[in-house]
Parts: sequence; structure tokens; C-alpha cells
Amino acid sequence: MHLLELILVCLAAALNLRVTGASRLYGIVLTVWTTLSLSALAADAIRLFEWLPAVQWVRSLGFFWFLASIPICMARAIRRQADQPTMDPQRRQILKSGAALALTPLSGIGFAIHKANQDAAVRVVDIPIPGMPADLRGLKLLHLSDLHVSSFFPIERLRRVVDQANTLNPDLALITGDLITSYGDPLEETIREISRLRACSGIWGCLGNHEIVAGAEEEATHLGQRAGIEFLRSQNRRLHFGKATINVAGVDYQRKGRPYLSQANQLMREDEFNVLLSHNPDVFQQASSQRWDLTLAGHTHGGQVNLEFLHPSLNPALFYTPFIYGLYSQEKSSMYVTSGLGTVGIPARLGTKSEIALIRLV
Ligand SMILES: [Fe+2]
Repeated sequence: MHLLELILVCLAAALNLRVTGASRLYGIVLTVWTTLSLSALAADAIRLFEWLPAVQWVRSLGFFWFLASIPICMARAIRRQADQPTMDPQRRQILKSGAALALTPLSGIGFAIHKANQDAAVRVVDIPIPGMPADLRGLKLLHLSDLHVSSFFPIERLRRVVDQANTLNPDLALITGDLITSYGDPLEETIREISRLRACSGIWGCLGNHEIVAGAEEEATHLGQRAGIEFLRSQNRRLHFGKATINVAGVDYQRKGRPYLSQANQLMREDEFNVLLSHNPDVFQQASSQRWDLTLAGHTHGGQVNLEFLHPSLNPALFYTPFIYGLYSQEKSSMYVTSGLGTVGIPARLGTKSEIALIRLV
């Protein structure tokens, strides 16, 4: 992540090399942000300042700088052409209109910030499961993920999410990680809010990569236990519904380069409905081959800022996984990937919404 940030800043700096005036401000942002990013490369150093809410904003400013640099530089280049003394007046007018047009993506940035700050929408997803026991039919599973409670997603917003989720009367509440973003984010308050969820068969979860980034895996597990939330870390729990049983298992974030879901099949129970909670969705091939009935995941934020409305391939999450958002099925396995609630990097969403997912087994 920090390497990506550095690359983006360098690109923005290269783009703005010949721009005067505002470039001074950019220069200040560049210096501060690059320093922060470089320091962040050392895991211990980041904790000296990452707890400051302002740090996340300064870093996000760098991203916005990069995004804004492209249209601004394009517009300036076109304007320079238009201002050539030898330019034909009619052509000059066309070029000036083109320069104004080149700035329109800036309004997209404002729109994306606005979208990210809208309250979450409820998405009801019916998942047909062949051979589903009658006692499980119609069961409602609340699925929340990627809360990222931080300076971008204040605790008040989570409070509204919990209130909204409680109106859905779920049977089970399932959380698939990234409760917070960084070290110093309000983990205890976040867990206290989640514990207000009302689901007759309890609140269960797994941890995400940001719990690792924040060094908060143990603390989250401990605080969860105290609040009546169990974060399953290569563990499973069997929940009975009439004569049927749901076996809920959870795994920690599965790191790339290591075998996915190794030994997770030992958490499965024969003749029961096996549900796997995994923060990252790219485990689906493995989950399917292990014959998990249902996998719930998040992590991608639906691409967070994507241009899928132009072409389906314009989604940054595709660099990571083909399972970006929605319902996937393979043989007898299904997976739902939620776009989650919060954001990371920048407080912006484009082409994807903040969502509360309600899974209905049908
Ligand atoms: Fe996330």
C-alpha cells in the first residue's frame, strides 16, 4: 500500500513538474505525505503518528492530488496550445472548450466523496441452496464487513448502521473483518457498537488484514469475547435451528503467497450447513474445492473507486481477485462478497455503495 502511494505521488509530481502556482502547495503536500509514507514503511515508526486522525487525511490528500493532477495537467496542456499566438481563433475556441471539458473528472472526485459519506444501503440477497434443510429455509444472516471505523468513518455512522441493521431482525450477525483501519482507531468503541446488534443466534466474525496492520488481532479477539462477539480464528461453532445445524467457521486474513485455507477443511462438519467467514474472497476456489456451502467475504470494497460504468474491466480490485462484489457460485458452493461499509486510503466511493447485506437462505 505504501509503495503504491509513493508511486502515485511520484507520478503526480511528474505530471505537475511544469505547473506553477498551485504546484507550491502540491510540493508541501508531497513532502509531508512522502515523509509519512516512507516512515510507514517501518512498521514501528508508523505507530508514532498514525493515531493522529490528521495523518489519514494528509495521506488521502496525496491520493486526491494524484487523481486531480491528471485532468488539471491535461486542461493546462490544452490551454497552452490554445494560447499560441499563431492559433486560428475558431480552433482556439474549440481548444478552450476542450480544456474546460478535461476538468469535468474533478466533479467526479467530489461526487465520489459525497457517495462515500452517504449512509449505507440495505442489500437483500437470496441464496438458493440445493437440498437445504427445511429448518434453515428463510433464515436471515446479517453480513457486515470492512467497517474501517476511523477518521473517515466515525463511530456515529456505525451507530446508525447498527440501528438500521437491527430493524432487519436477522437470525445471525456475521462480521468479516477490517473493523478499523489503523493503529489508534477506536477499536473498543467499535466493538461496543457491534455488540448492540440484535440477532437471536449471536454475533460471529473473522478478522481482516487491517487488524494485522493495526496490530490489533489479540485485542479485537479479547474485546469481542468480553462484549459477547466471537471472532473465529481457525475455529468453528455449531448453531442449532430446529433439527438442522449451521456450522460457522472463521479464518484470519489469508496472506498471498501462502496456501489458502490450509487445514480449514478440518473445521467442517459432515451433513451440516457449513459457512466460512473469510475476509478475503480470493479463497473461493479453495473453499469450493473443500465444499463449503457458503463463504462470506469482503475486503475489496467493491473496487471502492471504479469506472465499471465505462467498462467492466476498469475496477482496481481486479488486480487482486476476480471476486469483487456480489454472489458467486461454483458447483455446490456459493460466496457472497459485500462492498462493505467504510473506505480506506481516501474517503471516496465511485461505482460502488456502502452496504448492509442481508443474506436469506432460500
Ligand atoms: Fe477493508
